[in-house]
Amino acid sequence: MTHSQKILILDFGSQYTQLIARRIRENNVYSEIQPHNYPLEKIKLHKPKGIILSGGPQSVYDQDAPQIDKKLFELDIPILGICFGLQLIAKELGGKVEPAINREYGKTEFEILQTNELFKDVNTKSTVWMSHGDLVTELPEGFIINGRSENSPICAVSNSSKKIYGLQFHPEVSHTEFGNKILTNFLFNICKCSPDWSPKSFISAEIEDIRKEVGKDYVICALSGGVDSSVAAVLVSKAIGERLICVHVDTGLMRKNESHNIIKLFNDNLKLRIVHIDAAELFLSRLKGIADPEQKRKIIGNAFIEVFEKEAKKYPDVKFLVQGTLYPDVIESVSVKGKSATIKTHHNVGGLPEKMNLKLIEPFRELFKDEVRKIGRELGLPEDFINRHPFPGPGLAVRILGEVTKEKLEILRQVDEIYINEIKSANIYNQIWQAFSVLLPVRTVGVMGDFRTYENVIALRAVTSTDGMTADWYRFDYAILENISNKIIRNVKGVNRVVYDISSKPPSTIEWE
Ligand code: XMP
Repeated sequence: MTHSQKILILDFGSQYTQLIARRIRENNVYSEIQPHNYPLEKIKLHKPKGIILSGGPQSVYDQDAPQIDKKLFELDIPILGICFGLQLIAKELGGKVEPAINREYGKTEFEILQTNELFKDVNTKSTVWMSHGDLVTELPEGFIINGRSENSPICAVSNSSKKIYGLQFHPEVSHTEFGNKILTNFLFNICKCSPDWSPKSFISAEIEDIRKEVGKDYVICALSGGVDSSVAAVLVSKAIGERLICVHVDTGLMRKNESHNIIKLFNDNLKLRIVHIDAAELFLSRLKGIADPEQKRKIIGNAFIEVFEKEAKKYPDVKFLVQGTLYPDVIESVSVKGKSATIKTHHNVGGLPEKMNLKLIEPFRELFKDEVRKIGRELGLPEDFINRHPFPGPGLAVRILGEVTKEKLEILRQVDEIYINEIKSANIYNQIWQAFSVLLPVRTVGVMGDFRTYENVIALRAVTSTDGMTADWYRFDYAILENISNKIIRNVKGVNRVVYDISSKPPSTIEWE
């Protein structure tokens, strides 16, 4: 990728690796994560301004511990090793690492013994975040000790002339008091980066890359209306214009007016080339009589591929497929095994690229959702679109428990519209990661006027989350909930009871299926 300046992070499997990348980009420097075994030749091609060796769960002396090409230390590129990264530097350059008698986890006091350019403007004593079982016990030649903690006498080391630095603690974790200062010292004092990375510069670098990669070929995308894939489509269209063909498949499982609004925004306002396929009848007929959630998903996935493939065949010059894959979609930071293949299947449009022999364009593979939102804003997508809650590919089918029918879809669409509108008018939509309603396959007794009713139950779900991996239920003001419940029961025929889901993820999931 042609970002003019970048920091390369080699990932040894730490749970914090993503956080390092994010902190760096927050300081307006582009950073990219690559697996620890990323070949030296490729590293050189990136021309990184600096390299960070991440932490990792293993001991450098484990038999299967990840290794590093020692020539990395001769590239004359500044290196910062964090935790496992520090221990690897020590081991590879002739020092010694041993299991700690007193392991350190959590907040610890760090004391600078001899300051240097990495610790400029950092207090002599400060709180840092530790998470390690091994310790550096002997320094490699040419290194000095810069700081210690209670249980790590060698807690920060450096060889300033070679610009190699190591920290036992995690500067990327917010509990490390001067963590950001240390990182910015590395970025700006040591690597001499300039803080010029921004959504704008990302867009222009990506446009250049996409043009180079695609050449005169055509690109296709499935435009569902989700934020990530939509922003990706707009970005690609800026690069190659009409050679991007967006296919919007209306599965009949969308929310009220959703397909209409998507077409309006992308076709009329943003001038993307869109093919609109109304496949509602096909999806509904395939789903007839099916209650098992996994079976429903499979049927929807296969029908989607069938419709999409049929359309794509009309464009023989198509060689690429755009997807809005985000970094958290790339499972487990796949780290130690090498970052390769594994993308959550539901994001990988059901194996489309392999089946159709298309190459993937995934401009946001390194980014987080909030970063993609910033890019979407910069590309001119409207704010209410950018802030939309995630919506699953199989749509309302996973929110109707049991068989999906036209009538049930109609009920759920009406409920969902009321629910979301109320949340928006209470001004809390953006505090919530995702809010939706679920139509349960049970009926309960109610009373309306003088009549007994026997109708459907609706479950409301609203969660807060940062990435959808874990989630907590949203604490509504009771008055808002009351209003939502009243409006639903009063206005939607066929519903006489509303309940609110108060489970977190884990152990529950966000969707009900
Ligand atoms: P769960 O229910 O697994 O959901 O806690 C986590 C997040 O993933 C979304 N989700 C999907 N997104 N296709 C998607 O694009 C799918 O098949 C799918 N299933 C779940 C879900 O809405 C939540 O944001």
